Amino acid sequence: MIDLSIEFAGLKLKNPLIAASAGTTKDAVHCKKAADAGYSAVILKSVQEEMINRYNPFPRMSIIRNGIPGYQSVTFMTYEQAFEGEIEDYCEEIKRTKDMLDIPVIASLNCANEQTWAQYAVKCEAAGADALEIVPSCPVGAFVREAAEFYPAASKALKSVKEVVKIPAGLKMTQQMSNPILCARNLEEDGADWVTMFNRSSGFQIDIDTMEPIMHKGFCGHGGPWVIQSVMRWIAASYPYVRIPISATGGAANYEDVVRYMLSGAATVQIASLIYMKGYDIVKRILEDLVEYLEKHKLDKVSTLTGIGANKVLPLSEADRSHRYYAEVDYENCIRCQNCFPVCIYGAITQEDRRPVIHKDICDGCGLCSQVCNRAITMKQR
Ligand SMILES: Cc1cc2nc3c(=O)[nH]c(=O)nc-3n(C[C@H](O)[C@H](O)[C@H](O)COP(=O)(O)O)c2cc1C
Repeated sequence: MIDLSIEFAGLKLKNPLIAASAGTTKDAVHCKKAADAGYSAVILKSVQEEMINRYNPFPRMSIIRNGIPGYQSVTFMTYEQAFEGEIEDYCEEIKRTKDMLDIPVIASLNCANEQTWAQYAVKCEAAGADALEIVPSCPVGAFVREAAEFYPAASKALKSVKEVVKIPAGLKMTQQMSNPILCARNLEEDGADWVTMFNRSSGFQIDIDTMEPIMHKGFCGHGGPWVIQSVMRWIAASYPYVRIPISATGGAANYEDVVRYMLSGAATVQIASLIYMKGYDIVKRILEDLVEYLEKHKLDKVSTLTGIGANKVLPLSEADRSHRYYAEVDYENCIRCQNCFPVCIYGAITQEDRRPVIHKDICDGCGLCSQVCNRAITMKQR
């Protein structure tokens, strides 16, 4: 029997997948959908202190299909802000959610003034929240002004909350800073029970015909599957330096992403965009696939994945620099797609009858042609 349970910052979770704070956890009814689907905890949509942030603009979501032709990627750009109500309404929602769910309910705070963090935290704890996520990293609007000051503001918020509550409190970091490792370490010293890496970044998109920023002409939260590698990079780099658990969030779309996040050092993985795009129940498939993966690798506890890959990161000085590879074409499998021709900047590929001829003596061995090929090109050792 595979054990998917996780001990996370004092919370007992039945699996590593948490429904992240978003419209998809905006109230008890939505949280219940996440719980029924199989998420192990829910983080309620953030309550904001600033009045203007309590009212969402419409429409507020845009899917940007961007990228090199043939290699498209997707950006999910959103203008969504916060829970639409006062802190008192939020506390009522915490109570309702607690009544309806039998998994941990995490409240999410986004305050504007230093002294408010503690006041909101006390109220959420009294309403029954099992933990608090402190979010000084909202990517919409004012965040841009504060990015350079993220750690001092986060530290003050965290310390003031930790002074007044007993429930665990984690801090949701922004990636838009120079040194997330140091920030995570300092937050641990400040008393964080976990760090979440990372909130969506603050982004911008312009319509080239109207020549105006899209939607509401401001800075938006943006993310997508492309963000995973950079989030993993910072998780893997931070993992050796922090003892508190790291919760990963950003672009996770399947069990492979969950496994990669955990191997990089995450204890849990938070999911939002996937629920928007594919519904709550997609988590069932991820959990089934995760079990299958663990069985295949003869691992009986999912928690053992955390950090395995982070511990194998080598310093740049140890990278293999020997020039040993060259590309070779298997003409049986070549479908004349011609993807390989433009990518060889070394001039090692010429064409004959729309098929590639690789000049081994010129080939750099960089491997790019084999990556863009439909399986006919492989790398061989010299
Ligand atoms: C529409 C939308 C609204 C969000 N609102 C919040 C929020 O209120 N508070 C918060 O901490 N994160 C918020 N997030 C960020 C998510 O919690 C999550 O960290 C982020 O989207 C990355 O995960 P994903 O790629 O699975 O969406 C929001 C994300 C989306 C897409």
